Amino acid sequence: MTETADKGGYQTGYDFVVVANRLAVNRITHHDGSIGWQRSPGGLVTALAPIMSSSEGAWVGWHGAADETLEPFDHADMHLHPVALSAQEVEDYYEGFSNGTLWPLYHDVIARPLFHRHWWDAYQKVNRRFAEGAAKVAAQGATVWVQDYQLQLVPQMLRELRPDLRIGFFNHIPFPPPGLFAQLPWRHSVMKGLLGADLIGFQRESDARNFQRAVRYRLGYYIRSDQVHVPLEDDGAEAPFEGFHADPARGTASRQLSAPAEGTFRRSEAKAFPISIDTERIVELSNDPKIIARAAQIRAELGNPETIFLGVDRLDYTKGIRHRMKAYEELLQEGRIRAGEHTMVQIASPSREGVESYQRLRDEIELAVGRINGEFDTMGHTAIRYLHHSYPIEEMVALYLAADVMLVTALRDGMNLVAKEYVAARKDGTGVLVLSEFTGAADQLRQALLINPHDIDELKAAIVQATTLDRENVRKRMRSLRRQVVSHNVQRWAEDFLDRLGQL
Ligand code: F6P
Repeated sequence: MTETADKGGYQTGYDFVVVANRLAVNRITHHDGSIGWQRSPGGLVTALAPIMSSSEGAWVGWHGAADETLEPFDHADMHLHPVALSAQEVEDYYEGFSNGTLWPLYHDVIARPLFHRHWWDAYQKVNRRFAEGAAKVAAQGATVWVQDYQLQLVPQMLRELRPDLRIGFFNHIPFPPPGLFAQLPWRHSVMKGLLGADLIGFQRESDARNFQRAVRYRLGYYIRSDQVHVPLEDDGAEAPFEGFHADPARGTASRQLSAPAEGTFRRSEAKAFPISIDTERIVELSNDPKIIARAAQIRAELGNPETIFLGVDRLDYTKGIRHRMKAYEELLQEGRIRAGEHTMVQIASPSREGVESYQRLRDEIELAVGRINGEFDTMGHTAIRYLHHSYPIEEMVALYLAADVMLVTALRDGMNLVAKEYVAARKDGTGVLVLSEFTGAADQLRQALLINPHDIDELKAAIVQATTLDRENVRKRMRSLRRQVVSHNVQRWAEDFLDRLGQL
């Protein structure tokens, strides 16, 4: 911390500030009924918490409850600055624009994105509140790292408020191909919002390229070696659209073939930084005798089947849960999978329950599970053990250890950290990962059984193959997968991003 001012009883002047839709803590109710906070279990918090405490960092985010204003507070060495959202803003900014417009649009339009002007108004208003929150607490010349699609306007807003800051942005979800992104009525504002950052990180190379292409075709900005040349004077005019197929690399049309003159632009770099997990923590848990015993107990409770298939997802239409169920049901019908010999455990953690498409999906999945179990369960065995709960990481690792085959069948996924956690937990080299090629993780986990989840026959073949692969093949694949996950943990991801941001 370089300076300490007192603004209404809390400190400002932090050298490192994270801005994310959610704060790094969850509210919990203790056994005695008292209320407290618990550090969020996700990898992002794990990666950034040590940096926050060593560099006097602050975290600006929403605390998860509507219509409640909280004062800044400290928890577990972190300085937390809550951003208040009204119930109407939760509906319009979070459930509406973030999860009813951007989420489906950025995930290949698997569900239909809804474009409502009042949602956009709320998105702008709330993004400004986050930007103001960060501007207020950041020290002169501080580094501010903005997270994810809910806050794409924050980099530009923050730069206007505080041109002295070094600003990074990381998009945790995919960035869509320019032809899909073009549907967004506010596409120019979103691109300009992001370009307020000095460094814009994406999960995959293809996400970074999609963004660069959208910027080139729609804004007409010059781009070289991942660096977008953002004009200092923006005349507000939109560049004439030249078509999505204009590709300078192939010698076709490009709006601006030569670099603008020095001094007329600033650089914003758009590049891939694939996120990972807290590998050491998962490995440590997988060595814990209590967790190993719990894994054996899970197997026993399921009747010790030969093969346990596991799916772990937020209950989200991007995860391909229905496709997985369809493949599994057909295999049961064909007698290639049998309840008793085989069991599928599907953890579907509750998510975004205020959004209609999520409510519909839950109904569809629960109907399918009921139908499949009704037809194929026996008195002693279940075809699918479906659990609509969230579990602590200890239970998740026990499940990873209990499962012979992990099924990740997302139709589109920025990364999919469950795939990486499964691999990290399988340190004895057993276990098969069936992985959708439409996840960011598939770019790194090449030795998984890669599948196209839309191709139900291919998915069925991979599920069966996973049960018949010989031991040496399984080990060879898992060894190679583990090398990737062990050498690329989330701490390294954060370091790589922040090092690059520091160089710009
Ligand atoms: O993948 C994007 C993401 O925002 C994650 O960061 C988060 O864990 C998940 O989606 C669920 O987000 P939320 O419950 O905040 O909508």
